[in-house]
Amino acid sequence: MIINPKGISTSELHGYLLGAVTPRPIAFASTVDKAGNVNLSPFSFFNVFSANPPILIFSPSRRGRDNTTKHTLDNVLEHPETVVSIVSNEMVQQMSLSSTEYEKGINEFTKAGFNQEPSDRVKPPRVLEAPVSFECKVQEVKSLGKEGGAGQLVICEVLLIHLDEKILDENGRINPNKLNAVGRMGGDWYVKAFGDAIFEVAKPLKTKGMGVDRIPDRIRISTVLTGNHLGMLGNVEQLPSRKDVQDFANEPEVSTILDSFDDEENIRLELHKLAAKLLNEGEVDTAWKVLMIR
Ligand SMILES: Cc1cc2nc3c(=O)[nH]c(=O)nc-3n(C[C@H](O)[C@H](O)[C@H](O)COP(=O)(O)O)c2cc1C
Repeated sequence: MIINPKGISTSELHGYLLGAVTPRPIAFASTVDKAGNVNLSPFSFFNVFSANPPILIFSPSRRGRDNTTKHTLDNVLEHPETVVSIVSNEMVQQMSLSSTEYEKGINEFTKAGFNQEPSDRVKPPRVLEAPVSFECKVQEVKSLGKEGGAGQLVICEVLLIHLDEKILDENGRINPNKLNAVGRMGGDWYVKAFGDAIFEVAKPLKTKGMGVDRIPDRIRISTVLTGNHLGMLGNVEQLPSRKDVQDFANEPEVSTILDSFDDEENIRLELHKLAAKLLNEGEVDTAWKVLMIR
């Protein structure tokens, strides 16, 4: 299926864009208008874009249905400061409630039942319950259009970070299983960015992996190994030595395969299955030895 964005309605397009670009982090943005009235709203068109200078961007769009603007956008144009807080799983229902389109001047801290903590550097207060909050100066508001659905990028420079020490590991780094962040998916779906939903992939930073293109064809063109397996195999710098492979052929798991099958095709199939199992367990070097036997 091919979609031409110009051939469908904005609301349909919105559905495909938000359903596909997932998961999205959530900026819980507090702002004030020029009279000092506080507003709090969530925005999942959000990310970090720079560490030096530290820049966050979120986007309160013009409404698709009537092209009106959101209070958050009006407020940052009146008073260019915001506090962006991170939403934890413990906050998700109240955060959702705060996205109700209350009239101007209504404080969503009160409506959603969050505690308002004075900020150090900016006028908008921060959400006391949030595990991390960024006090920000709004550098620029970049409008992406004047029609309904047009994003309005609020470009924020981080002045100060508040961080609950309970989310740190023993090395002082943020532990995702303590942060308990949630993200936004398409429709009404959210994702828990912790527990079974997260996993580690070794960075190919220090080593220069040989690449999938250098994996011998008899291994690369496999009915057993998946793209993820090939990615792991291609991330090693060099193949095991002939001696290491020969020694490994005596290991019971391998010798059983070699003794149980007499045709090459079945031996290779079983070796690939064993390698796949090892790769699933993160044993890349051992998997390479298994694969190099035949
Ligand atoms: C998790 C979540 C993410 C949202 N993300 C966005 C977004 O990125 N942009 C947007 O314009 N509205 C977004 N919304 C809707 C706004 O939060 C909603 O329109 C809100 O009432 C705006 O409040 P305001 O007019 O007080 O600024 C989101 C709502 C939720 C619950």
